[in-house]
Amino acid sequence: MRVTTRLCERFGVDHPILNAPMGGGDAPGALAAAVSEGGGLGMIGGTTVGGVDWLRAEIAVARERTDRPFGVGVITHLPGADELTRAALDEGARVIAHSFGDPTPYVDAAHAAGALVLCQVRSVDEARRAADAGVDVVTAQGTEAGGHTGTTATLPLLPAVVDAVAPLPVLAAGGIADGRGIAAALLLGADGVWLGTAFLATPEAAIAPGYKERVLASGTDDTVLTEVFDLAAGIPWPDGVAGRSIRNRFTDRWHGDEEALRAWAVEHRDELRAEHEDPETIPLYAGPAAQFVTRSEPAADVVRRLAAEAAEVLETRPRRLLRDVAPDEGGDPACWAHAVDEDGRLG
Ligand SMILES: Cc1cc2nc3c(=O)[nH]c(=O)nc-3n(C[C@H](O)[C@H](O)[C@H](O)COP(=O)(O)O)c2cc1C
Repeated sequence: MRVTTRLCERFGVDHPILNAPMGGGDAPGALAAAVSEGGGLGMIGGTTVGGVDWLRAEIAVARERTDRPFGVGVITHLPGADELTRAALDEGARVIAHSFGDPTPYVDAAHAAGALVLCQVRSVDEARRAADAGVDVVTAQGTEAGGHTGTTATLPLLPAVVDAVAPLPVLAAGGIADGRGIAAALLLGADGVWLGTAFLATPEAAIAPGYKERVLASGTDDTVLTEVFDLAAGIPWPDGVAGRSIRNRFTDRWHGDEEALRAWAVEHRDELRAEHEDPETIPLYAGPAAQFVTRSEPAADVVRRLAAEAAEVLETRPRRLLRDVAPDEGGDPACWAHAVDEDGRLG
């Protein structure tokens, strides 16, 4: 038994599972290729300090490793988005994802090149604007997401976005890293899932070893939605967007003391930029779904395992929750017998 949705055909994949196009080099060509080889849609996080050269090189790596489709994601409000998008299309990427900015200027060129356009959103309004812009798929990103995100939870946001942009397909992002989460997202109306945290501990994710260890050790209570790393780096984000990171010494020191951080960061920006490894200083972007990331597993195996888990949940759980009810039957008398006392009051 396999879960399929209309996006499997649209993307040309076996499983409706994408890795998030995590920027900063975290989702390189090797990760995208591995996810695609596992039967999902691999995504390269296109926005890095390496710019277009880095992206072209990573697309080449992905091509060497897989013949299957993969895509590229761009952080649309940051400088360089135009060049990155053009390079991704030149290199033949079949899927381009935009986040944190208006996708309108990019839709026609992508469609002319035969590519699909995805847009990640954090509100119903943003979802409607993306649909009006002509994108092909909307990703509804809940506040549980690792990395930059908004404040509305996936559970209400996802079905609200599904309703708002119907019949466009919607991907669910934020808080999903096991088959139960995927099954739940599909039941809420999603046609697929877009997962970041679930892939962070894979050998193909290009993050520091100490960061991977923290992801493996973290659970549902260990993250914070904070602006401290953006203030420290001096990188602007749209209103209402902050970064969800595993707490470390840096967030413990500065979260809640942002005014002082602004002044401190001016002096220390260069040394912070130079720090790539220390898990107590760098952003450990990840979400509470880290609870379900308990071992380092190749990304292709993660895709296959999650797809199998989701199929198992969808095959067994709904069936256990339903039973036939006769038309004149108001409820299960055996069940009521436990719940009411002799006078018929609820116990
Ligand atoms: C390390 C990391 C980096 C991320 N970078 C980006 C990015 O560059 N662009 C983007 O649209 N989303 C980015 N995100 C957010 C993801 O797209 C996605 O919404 C999120 O990972 C989904 O939630 P999850 O982490 O619970 O799976 C990032 C997430 C993580 C964990």
